Amino acid sequence: MADESLRVVEFYSGIGGMHFALKGCGFAGEVNAALEINTTANQVYQLNFADTKLLQKNIEGITVKELDRLSADVFLMSPPCQPFTRVGLQGASSDPRSRSFLHILELLPQLSKVPDYILMENVKGFETSDTREYFLETLNTCGYNYQEFLLSPVQFGIPNSRLRYYLLAKRRPLRFCFPTRNEIMESFPDMYLHAENRCHCQCSGCGNDPMTTGYEVDVDDHKQSSATECTVEMNQRLPHNPACSKCFRTRNERCSEVLAMESSSQVYELKNCRRIGDYLENSNDDNYFEEFLLPEKVLCKFALLLDIVNPQSERSCCFTKAYGHYAEGTGSVLKMANIDDSDIFRRYQDLTDDKQKAELLSILKLRYFTPREVANLHGFPFEFRFPSSLSIKQQYRLLGNSLNVLLVSELLNCLFHAP
Ligand SMILES: C[S@@+](CC[C@H](N)C(=O)[O-])C[C@H]1O[C@@H](n2cnc3c(N)ncnc32)[C@H](O)[C@@H]1O
Repeated sequence: MADESLRVVEFYSGIGGMHFALKGCGFAGEVNAALEINTTANQVYQLNFADTKLLQKNIEGITVKELDRLSADVFLMSPPCQPFTRVGLQGASSDPRSRSFLHILELLPQLSKVPDYILMENVKGFETSDTREYFLETLNTCGYNYQEFLLSPVQFGIPNSRLRYYLLAKRRPLRFCFPTRNEIMESFPDMYLHAENRCHCQCSGCGNDPMTTGYEVDVDDHKQSSATECTVEMNQRLPHNPACSKCFRTRNERCSEVLAMESSSQVYELKNCRRIGDYLENSNDDNYFEEFLLPEKVLCKFALLLDIVNPQSERSCCFTKAYGHYAEGTGSVLKMANIDDSDIFRRYQDLTDDKQKAELLSILKLRYFTPREVANLHGFPFEFRFPSSLSIKQQYRLLGNSLNVLLVSELLNCLFHAP
């Protein structure tokens, strides 16, 4: 068991998804340095983690000496995924965007202090790349045990698809708390998840299970009683704390089927996921959601390509960085009107005039999820904030690059747990 506070380096830190996951994982760890090249992401990171040393730099330029100075026990990394995505060119190691990760791998065996723990996150597709081969070779050379995973939040009751590749590595003589396998695991080790039912959330309400009690966190109460400083806007009365690990239920679907469906971009619904309504903002201001309504142009051109969900739905599609910018395949939209849309779409098909089409569809009150709602689905805690200077598009972009905090938190717990 890792007992002392672990010294962590967070590569590709973005908006700090890994840092939030570390905070919730149940083990003490301190991010000694975060490295990120994107200035907008860094503004967000700095706002949320003002005391963390954030190095605005290209990872390709980092030296053995600099890394040794950080003397890390843990490397957390989510390198760029474009070289491995289905829609990309899949250039893998030959893609210039892989260079920084290959550079880290080159440095790893040269370090005086090689980290004891590594967590790496990437897209599905990484597992068939030559970069993965090189990664595993390096881990073998440096004396690591490791386990690969393909996991999506839907497997754990969160109504959002985000199928990702994860690798956990532990340097020998450290051992995992579960029997590792050569093949990629598609669920958590059973014995691990069933071993305990923790809740790391410090919210006053986490003693209540929202799944069974319908408990609602009143943000004003939360503000006063939370052990951590909470600065949620008054108009954000969230139905529950999205970062409460009780939401990450101890169910552990073995989801080859889910994975197959996610891979083929089919729409599907798993039974017993939480409802989308649990993740929505609740504003008394009627105009609050106006700016998120789908514009006429999108309604006319892309209505039939949209993935539409409602507050009762138990699923949503993966939110990408193009959400709010491109309509197709970038994430679900929300139907706010409580009416059946099948008749509307039947009538829509008969219309040719754009104005009439838009008028008809406006009945459905289709809107984008707000950035806060996407952050909720990604398991970011109440206190997570964007600087007010950032546009909604910039926020979507950064969230689309980020990760599911609750899932990574559980993986970290799994990584740090002693046998
Ligand atoms: C998949 S995102 C990681 C997001 C992050 N985990 C989060 O929670 O927001 C990859 C990040 O790596 C950054 N990045 C890409 N190449 C880089 C490089 N050579 N040096 C430093 N950062 C880089 C990108 O700007 C992007 O924010």
